Amino acid sequence: MQAQPMDKQRNILVTAALPYANGSIHLGHLVGYIQADIWTRFQKMRGHQCTFVCGDDSHGTPIMIKAEQLGITPEEMILQVHQEHHADFNDFAVSFDNFYTTHSPENQALAEQVYRALIERDDIAVRTIKQFFDPQKQMFLPDRYVKGVCPRCKTADQYGDSCEACGATYAPTELINPTSTLSGATPVEKESEHFFFKLPKYEEALKRWTQSDHLQPQVKNKLDEWFETGLKEWDISRDAPYFGFQIPGNPGKFFYVWLDAPIGYIASFKNYCERNKQLRFEDYWNKDSEAELYHFIGKDIIYFHALFWPAMLQGADFRTPTAIFANGFLTIGGHKMSKSRGTFITARQYLEHLHPEYLRYYFAAKLNSHIEDIDLNFDDFLQRINSDLVGKVVNIASRCSRFINKNFANKLSVSLPENHLFEQFTLAGNSIAALFEAREFNQAIREIMALADKANQYIDQEKPWQSIKDPEQQLHTHEVCSLGINLFRILMTYLKPILPNLAMDIEAFLNIAPMTWENRLQPLQSHSIKPFKPLLQRITEAQINGVKQLAEQAKPQATSTTSPKKTKPETLAETIQIDDFSKVDLRIAKILSAEHVEGADKLLKIQVDLGTETRQIFAGIKSAYEPEQLVGKLTVVVANLAPRKMRFGMSEGMILCAGDNSGLWIVSPDSGAKPGMQVK
Ligand code: MSP
Ligand code: ZN
Repeated sequence: MQAQPMDKQRNILVTAALPYANGSIHLGHLVGYIQADIWTRFQKMRGHQCTFVCGDDSHGTPIMIKAEQLGITPEEMILQVHQEHHADFNDFAVSFDNFYTTHSPENQALAEQVYRALIERDDIAVRTIKQFFDPQKQMFLPDRYVKGVCPRCKTADQYGDSCEACGATYAPTELINPTSTLSGATPVEKESEHFFFKLPKYEEALKRWTQSDHLQPQVKNKLDEWFETGLKEWDISRDAPYFGFQIPGNPGKFFYVWLDAPIGYIASFKNYCERNKQLRFEDYWNKDSEAELYHFIGKDIIYFHALFWPAMLQGADFRTPTAIFANGFLTIGGHKMSKSRGTFITARQYLEHLHPEYLRYYFAAKLNSHIEDIDLNFDDFLQRINSDLVGKVVNIASRCSRFINKNFANKLSVSLPENHLFEQFTLAGNSIAALFEAREFNQAIREIMALADKANQYIDQEKPWQSIKDPEQQLHTHEVCSLGINLFRILMTYLKPILPNLAMDIEAFLNIAPMTWENRLQPLQSHSIKPFKPLLQRITEAQINGVKQLAEQAKPQATSTTSPKKTKPETLAETIQIDDFSKVDLRIAKILSAEHVEGADKLLKIQVDLGTETRQIFAGIKSAYEPEQLVGKLTVVVANLAPRKMRFGMSEGMILCAGDNSGLWIVSPDSGAKPGMQVK
């Protein structure tokens, strides 16, 4: 068998989900961007015409609100964020051919074009709907901006679309005691005319589309579920004030951000074509386009990409995607990252501690073609970088180049020793390429590391450090080390999509043209290399501890029963009636035992005697008390709080506590009070 020749040149357009322009790029985001970047770089190395576009998703209410909070215009904010995102992607070697924005003239023109085409086909319905309106802010409230008591389980402080405690989903108007999170005002219901995209008209076409090979099996299953529940018309308009594109001919109405966001893919490519005349826009987007189009997205936005998007494209006479590739979510040390909770490690924070290509390698080592969540475990991270990259791969270069540099005037031998390693290494490029193509990066890395082991075994066996001392064996030693360098080069060719900057340093060290999949087949013989410089440092414990601390801070706060969230209440809470207060059953309790909870950094597990019964409570007071200090103390407990299932067990009440930045104090009664007494 031989290393396969390249297949014919393909025209490929790759997109990555457009990040919202109201926050920093975090490590979770980077999973998808790095995955798409590796795939794109691989295609380019294979000699294909591959273009990779992205841009900021710059419209919508959260962006408008955030800018308002910052006291700047949305235009100013999205510009700042754009620069920040651009720098973050650059530093992680995510090499978009164009990183544009949805707030662009191209995107506006395209959004209008799509909208007009849909109107033309009678795909847009107009209906009056009732929605919550904030009378103080004079704006309609998206579900996420309304909070209240869950209509099902009665947990307070739940968002307008779903309850975090019981998982119920509902309309914001069903919340008990709804308030606007923007102003605190009680929202009122108000009517407004909205525009709807008639998605059900596309059911047959979408079913056909999903049947062919465009989707991962899990996505296909999800879609089947959605088909079963029935497709609904999609609300594509929002009322002023809104930061977005006005709907043509409809002052005060704007396109919903999710309408113009995916159109941003087309706009970014179009903008790129204007600067790059060798690409023709029509070749990629016309209905009969033969180019391939791939969207890399996270699993949370499948609905938009697998249903609305292909339907919109069909309706507007554009081609549909060749495939949609969804990735799972990143967790850190087993914990969920979440933007809305402000619990994430940003790309920038990571860079203060560690090399960006370590993360690229780690993600690649974990990524496959399925929608599986990825956990970033820092001990595993250190282990993989130090043992795989430094210990196995770079080690080959350092072991061999020493002698080439010192004993052979930097020059590789004229021929390579008789053995099959070189062929074996080049041949492996076929299966490794197939794995990259199929996005099975973890398996590709496994194969590459198995080859690295083979190269190291070869060097161990030939022992150049011994044979170099024997003048009779000079030629042999020269050839062994030269083969080692050649094998190293092939390995680095395979790793180049993952580690592009390291690969560039190695191209400089080896004094070679940029490595491609094809040119790996030509061995380096009688070739001068440069002196070896350490290419990659081992990760130290100190560095890992630095990021680990970030992760600790990033952990979602255990919903401790007592952690005082507001450290400094500026104003007293709203007045309540005596009836409201009497709903709370406060009891004196005696602390029977208290202990540390394994894996929790704030919680203590406490047993209390409530007079009539014993309860288990998890309280976030570890920072303030040693467990033994608490035993025997009397305190006040909310006895009728609904039990909460926590990661460590059930918490059956709440211990009252006073606190601010300076510390925490449990509330205790004066002497004489007995467990079980009511506190009124
Ligand atoms: N603006 C939309 C996408 C519009 S595409 C036309 C959006 N933006 S986002 O900033 O919230 O997310 C950007 C990408 O990061 C999405 O693909 C999203 O799924 C992904 N991720 C966000 N958090 C993530 C993790 N914790 N883990 C992995 N991917 C994550 O959605
Ligand atoms: Zn609930």
